Amino acid sequence: MPNSAPIGIFDSGIGGLTLAHAITELIPQEPIIYFGDTAHLPYGDKSATAIQAYSVKICNFLLDKNCKLILIACNSASAAAYDLVKAYVGTKAVVVNVIDPVIQYLDQQWAGKTLGLIGTKQTVNSGIYAKKALALGKNIDVKSLATPLLAPMIEEGFFNNTISEQIIREYLEQDVLKNIDGLILACTHYPLIKSQIDQFYQGSIPVIDTSQIVANEIQTILTKNDLAIQKGQVGSRQFYVSDYTDSFEKSTQIFFGEAIKLIQYPIWD
Ligand code: DGL
Repeated sequence: MPNSAPIGIFDSGIGGLTLAHAITELIPQEPIIYFGDTAHLPYGDKSATAIQAYSVKICNFLLDKNCKLILIACNSASAAAYDLVKAYVGTKAVVVNVIDPVIQYLDQQWAGKTLGLIGTKQTVNSGIYAKKALALGKNIDVKSLATPLLAPMIEEGFFNNTISEQIIREYLEQDVLKNIDGLILACTHYPLIKSQIDQFYQGSIPVIDTSQIVANEIQTILTKNDLAIQKGQVGSRQFYVSDYTDSFEKSTQIFFGEAIKLIQYPIWD
């Protein structure tokens, strides 16, 4: 794989642009191909089987584009399809999910602690964070709550207002999230409501924005595998979606921080 090959990033939609953005901030010279499966969004309410089928099709597209690394930038797809995708891609590209870097971080910094976690139904019902944290053998307890209203709320631009404040409060006041030492934001969309969640806790516990952790891990993996783009080179960025609408393109501004041109590439036929 040449060092100039792109990093492939995929998500159920445009929420994964928060992670793509964190990566471009950290390693701006790396070429990126983003794929948002807007035709099948949301993944959070889909079965694992459906998410696996979509993920394999997206990987075919990213492999056709010669990606050196494929990042599953979606918690729901990382929970449902990582093992399958990794086996499917084999040695053709490095496959990274958004869960394992967070587990590594817990391993290093959160021994003996109890963490809350919020995410989609798919992510939370899979129990994957709790299982992997338990397997570390460091007495780390993860208590999860599905918060399915949050992603569509953010997509509609409802954050930093009183409606979002009330919805966030309703969720965070649930018993399962009582007595936690920190809160993991296990969904692509949640970096956008981190400040409101911080306000709720008023600094009493850390709120963990996983996009920073995953971006750091991508940089480390590229360097370790000698796959980072050579100094002096600057790669291009392309953003594909399986179903294009003007409203998706407008919303990219929210998630990526700047306007993006979306290219339609249907993957279901
Ligand atoms: N990208 C999804 C995740 O991180 C959230 C949106 C969806 O349900 O598709 O879990």
